[in-house]
Amino acid sequence: MKTLITVLLTLAVVLLLVEGYVYSGAFDVAADRPHGAFVQWLVQTTRERSIAVHAKDIAVPPLDAPMLIAQGAAEYAQMCAGCHLAPGVEDNEFRQGLYPPAPELAKGADAQPAQQFWIVKHGIKMSAMPAWGVTHDDETIWSIVAFLEKLPTPISGTALPNTWAAGISSSPATGSTPAA
Ligand code: HEC
Repeated sequence: MKTLITVLLTLAVVLLLVEGYVYSGAFDVAADRPHGAFVQWLVQTTRERSIAVHAKDIAVPPLDAPMLIAQGAAEYAQMCAGCHLAPGVEDNEFRQGLYPPAPELAKGADAQPAQQFWIVKHGIKMSAMPAWGVTHDDETIWSIVAFLEKLPTPISGTALPNTWAAGISSSPATGSTPAA
């Protein structure tokens, strides 16, 4: 009985301390100052475990069809290259202040296709990564994953869909709109 009371009292004190810390406003939410080591570990591990567990039962369809990859390339140019860049897309001011930063997906990704599908569909809380499943069906999202699987060399030797080129030249990333 005594032990139980001690445990409950300790728990109550810990909860009060956590609450006090939250209300004190001491935690710095500024995006231009990185997390300390503990919070970084907490956020990263929570994110990795959540994605691994939620994506574990997703069956990956065949992703090799050139049409599917081309469709994904067009979607990527429109919706993703601004944050994640792409071959031929220059860095831009918009993405540089993101925290956590948006990784350059053409430089290789840690996530497996099923995990990429889950991330693209559901997004990642407390980051700038949107949930594209709100506006796009699963088939479209798989086309994007098919394209991601081919990065960074989806383009060599294949004709680019017009929308890819259009997406790149109209993106603020390049600033290289051809003179009309
Ligand atoms: C507004 C910016 C933004 C846009 C637009 C965006 N993302 Fe992201 N994305 C992010 C950020 C930021 C992260 C990192 C989140 C984190 O580390 O928790 C991320 C993470 C990811 C990851 C996980 C990468 C890894 O291996 O860790 C994938 C995959 C991804 N995005 C794909 C996409 C795709 C595909 C699109 C377009 C359909 C897209 N994103 C559009 C900001 C964006």
